Parts: sequence; C-alpha cells; structure tokens
Amino acid sequence: MNVLFFSSKVYDTEFFNQSNTRHKHTLNFLEVPLNRNTAVLAKGHEAVCIFVNDKANAEVLQLLAEQGVRLVALRCAGFNNVDLEAAQKLGIKVVRVPAYSPYSVAEHTLALILTLNRKTHRAYNRVKEGNFALNGLMGFDLHGKTVGLIGLGKIGLVTARILKGFGCRVLGYDVIKRDEFDEIGIEFTELPALYSESDIISLHCPLTPQTHHLINKESIASMKQGVMLINTSRGALIDTKAVIAALKTAHISYLGLDVYEEEADLFFEDLSDKVIQDDVFMRLLSFNNVLITGHQAFFTRNAMEGIASVTLQNISDFESGKMLANQIAN
Ligand code: NAI
Repeated sequence: MNVLFFSSKVYDTEFFNQSNTRHKHTLNFLEVPLNRNTAVLAKGHEAVCIFVNDKANAEVLQLLAEQGVRLVALRCAGFNNVDLEAAQKLGIKVVRVPAYSPYSVAEHTLALILTLNRKTHRAYNRVKEGNFALNGLMGFDLHGKTVGLIGLGKIGLVTARILKGFGCRVLGYDVIKRDEFDEIGIEFTELPALYSESDIISLHCPLTPQTHHLINKESIASMKQGVMLINTSRGALIDTKAVIAALKTAHISYLGLDVYEEEADLFFEDLSDKVIQDDVFMRLLSFNNVLITGHQAFFTRNAMEGIASVTLQNISDFESGKMLANQIAN
C-alpha cells in the first residue's frame, strides 16, 4: 500500500523502513506537516501517516479524501488533532498506536521531577566551568512526599509504581476506578483533595473538552504553596498564562513541561537561528525553575520500535480488510 508520511524526521525513516521489511508497503516520507496547504501532496496514496502536531481537521480531511486517502494512521497515542466526525462522514478510517512503552513517558516524567528538584541541569553547567559552589542547588527528599497523578491509565500507573519505589505517598484521580490502584498503593482522591494535599502534581490524562485548561487560575489557587507541576501529556491541559502568574508569585515553585499548548509552531524543529515570536513561551523559558523538553518523553528506541511495528500492522490490517483493533471510533 502507498503510504505518505507527514512531519517525518530521520528517525522515523530509519525505524519505519526497518520495520517495513516485514510488510512491504511503499513508504514515502515528507518533512512538511499535514495542513490545508500540504494535504494535496497525498495524491496517489491510500494512507497517510501523521504525528501529534499534524492538523487533520474537517477541511484537511476533505482534501485528503479528494486525493483518494482512505486511512489516517496516527503514529502516536493521542488523537485530539483529528476531527473524527468529519473522518467518519468522509469514509476515512483512523487508527492509532494506543500503547507503546508507557515506561518511556513515565521515566521521562521522573527525569523532569528529579532534574527540577536536584537541579542537575544547572550543576552540570557549573561543574563544566569549574564552579563547585552549592548555593542555589538545594533540593528535597522525594521520599515521603505526596504526589498527585491525574489520569491513571497506562502511563499514570507506571509513574505511580516508580514513585512508590521512591517511597512517595501517591494520590490519584481518574474518571474510571480500577483494581490496580489498590494493588499499587494509590490512594484514589477527588481533584480538590489531590490539589490541596500534593507536593507534586503530574498530568497523565488525555486532552478532551473536559480536560482543556484543567490547570487554571482556580485549580492553582487550591494547590499547596510551592507545588511542583509536571505535564508530559498534552499542552492545552494547562492554561499557560495562569501558570506564569503563579510562577511569578512562587505559588508554583517548579514547572516541568514536555508539551506546550502552542507547540505546533515550535517543537521538533531547529529554530536556534530564528527569532522565536511566542512571547508566552519565551516568558516561561526565562524562569530558572522551569524545565522544558520538546515533546521527547516518548522518544526511546523501545518506543520507536513499538510505534513503527503497530502503525505498519494497522496499515496491513486495513489493506487486507481485517478488523482494525486500533481504530478510533467516533
Ligand atoms: P491511557 O488512555 O492509557 O490513560 C489515560 C487515562 O486518563 C485513562 O485512565 C482515562 O480514564 C483517564 N482520563 C480520561 N479523562 C480524564 C479526566 N477528565 N480526568 C482524569 N482522568 C481522565 O493513555 P496513556 O497511554 O496513559 O497516555 C496518557 C496521555 O499521555 C495521552 O493521552 C497523551 O496525551 C500523553 N502522551 C504523551 C507522550 C509524550 O511524548 N509526551 C507520549 C504518549 C502519550
């Protein structure tokens, strides 16, 4: 089957070509993102493979359908960038990779927590310059701290297990209760109590209309003074301006982000010789207690192998008319 990749990078080409030896699809890789200007490039392809910041809204899907596209294969778990209703109307099927190494994201979450706490990013630079002073590098024991996790799915649960290993008290909130919560030792807690009792809050729920700007002026007001906030899920879970206001008053004392609401214009590209126009993002960067990575939590060898393997299997199943286990229903 002819598959056109949008927003592809060298690592996509490498992992997908390797995995494709088992499938023999024709894979064509484009670096440009999918949007209203680039959708026409899909002519001659029955499937397109897209990533987190490609825009598959109604207009783009209509253009894809006109080129003969019948399948949108997401090479990620989140699907907030696809208009599922429009896809259904156009007869386009949408598949995704619901699970691939939840360890990749959970372990990156811990990397952000530990770096913010023990300031290893600052220590690294100091030591490189022969500065061995400890002023400003003081952290706290993670052991005994209360961590609140919002969203206890695959990634949230792995994060909880790791935190239990550190000796943390783990509070968790989800819209669904599962037996595993007790087994891991997670205390199921409604959001108001989770906000007021947690020293660290980490987000692991999907972006939906219900979770959009879940972290806002009101929810921040009910959090502990000096809280650490971590978001490795989706940028728009957080109202960035409200978080900046709380950083200025030190109500939030640490912020770790792997995702950002307006990341589509920034992340995955080398903009080091450009002037970044996003003033809100630049304000975030100016705080020394804010640590930002550019949507790299998923980026491990294990996860990339899983993503390529499941995506190509999804495409093969579509081609052979099998039931699509990873189809996203509207
Ligand atoms: P999952 O589907 O296994 O778990 C999500 C959990 O959130 C479910 O248990 C669900 O019931 C819960 N949930 C839904 N609505 C909620 C709400 N309103 N409040 C609280 N909980 C709610 O998904 P998984 O694999 O754990 O991924 C979680 C999120 O992580 C994804 O939606 C995606 O946005 C993000 N992600 C980020 C990556 C990165 O590289 N930074 C990579 C992969 C996923």
